[in-house]
Amino acid sequence: MYRTRFLRGGPGFAVSVFFLLGAACVLTGASEEPGQDVPRDEHGAASIEYQSQVLTGLLPAEDVTQPPAAIDPVVWTAFVPEDNALSADRVALGRKLYFDTRLSQDGSVSCATCHDVTRGFTDQLPVSEGIRGQFGKRNAPTTLNVALLQSLFLDGRSPSLEHQAKMPILNPVEMGMPDEDTALKAISGDPEYQAAFRKAYGREVNYEDLGRAIAAFERTLVFMDSPFRRFLAGDAEAISAQAKAGWELFNAKARCMTCHPMNPSNPLGTDNRFHNVGVSARHQDFEALATQALRAMEEDTSEQKLDELAVGTDLSELGRFMVTRNRAEIGSFRTLLILNIGITPPYMHDGSLATLWDVIDHYNKGGEPNPFLDGGMEPLALTEEEINQLVAFLFTLTDDRFAEENQRQFELQRAAAEQQRPFRDEEMAFRRTLGFEKRVQATPSTDQ
Ligand code: HEC
Ligand code: HEC
Repeated sequence: MYRTRFLRGGPGFAVSVFFLLGAACVLTGASEEPGQDVPRDEHGAASIEYQSQVLTGLLPAEDVTQPPAAIDPVVWTAFVPEDNALSADRVALGRKLYFDTRLSQDGSVSCATCHDVTRGFTDQLPVSEGIRGQFGKRNAPTTLNVALLQSLFLDGRSPSLEHQAKMPILNPVEMGMPDEDTALKAISGDPEYQAAFRKAYGREVNYEDLGRAIAAFERTLVFMDSPFRRFLAGDAEAISAQAKAGWELFNAKARCMTCHPMNPSNPLGTDNRFHNVGVSARHQDFEALATQALRAMEEDTSEQKLDELAVGTDLSELGRFMVTRNRAEIGSFRTLLILNIGITPPYMHDGSLATLWDVIDHYNKGGEPNPFLDGGMEPLALTEEEINQLVAFLFTLTDDRFAEENQRQFELQRAAAEQQRPFRDEEMAFRRTLGFEKRVQATPSTDQ
């Protein structure tokens, strides 16, 4: 089913993405969707009506003007801009916009196509499909808990949710609107929108308020009521002994907490900084790419151009360097959130790792060597048992409202890992080539 859709992209790109997705399907069994009867749109996301219904079930009818229960009220105020205080009208408008495919050039894509309520608010694809079957180069992160991030996008090029929400609508491989006016025209004739904008912001339909409303809606997506959170709060029985051992490793031998700090005052598991952990180094000549990037950005210095290059071209792999032009940040990406990590496969900025076992294998070998590798990366010498413990811990970070999908993913990923990790008996830290790397290398790619 996915394969035919992929083949509609450019031929070279289709082949490599086709393979990546093929691998992801085999690995995670992702073609076995839960509930085969879920109505789907043409890009594979659950239909808007279906998603909207599920979302209503997920979100408690709380007073949105109050800070979420899980978050310190003082901390929360720091994350809500003064000119966009939360109100029920703003959230309702943002929710409508989030699901509206009219904001895309061919009327087929909305935010919810790639940040699907039924798929952990991602698309569970290696890289996302936008209008006309085009694929970008980046994996869609979840929109859950983005309210608490200090910068947005994997290279941090956007300073706020308000700003971020305006970008995908104009990105040629995402929603593809040629400019803000065209995007506005798609909705401004609709009396429902005219009334909703006036109610929410006291003004006519305009692009700044569109960004604000979507941001307001995203601030209601705080989902961190996980078994691990209850464990941290003192419920020793909330997670298994295996997961507890994983938590110990996370903080000690595996050194994950140096970049993914997790504690009651930082529940997100990200330091909000940028590191090269050697994901892109597998397949990129950084020097050549950096030269190409500098030239492209000299020609056009707009933020739309940057967005286009970062999402839609191989320059994506340069990560934070595209924003700062600081050589030391070549191949660096923001430490990703690990809350709800069980339900948002595949992993990393390029979606190259299909399971959490693959992720730990990557860290265990010390990442991929390259001149810009973070100093905190080195071989960990974790045993198979320790790897299983770390993975068990990671699966306790999912909000209880997604417990069923989390369990399903755990079983799919475990089955895939058992089949696909051919070096099970070797010392992990001495593997130079990992199972998934072999699969990637074995694929003829006409993409370069
Ligand atoms: C075609 C798929 C697609 C569509 C449509 C899309 N996104 Fe995304 N989204 C992505 C990808 C891919 C990224 C990562 C891009 C990057 O980091 O450069 C992303 C990143 C984000 C982030 C940043 C998350 C983080 O961890 O930094 C937010 C928030 C977000 N999108 C919200 C939205 C909203 C709101 C809309 C609708 C206006 C939208 N997206 C439309 C694919 C999509
Ligand atoms: C040097 C900093 C650093 C260390 C140490 C580190 N991480 Fe990460 N982590 C990152 C960065 C940066 C990313 C995003 C990398 C990318 O996409 O290229 C990431 C991504 C991830 C992801 C994928 C998230 C997603 O949504 O795709 C997981 C899971 C993860 N890390 C878990 C761990 C675990 C478990 C450990 C310990 C074994 C660990 N990390 C150690 C910085 C680090």
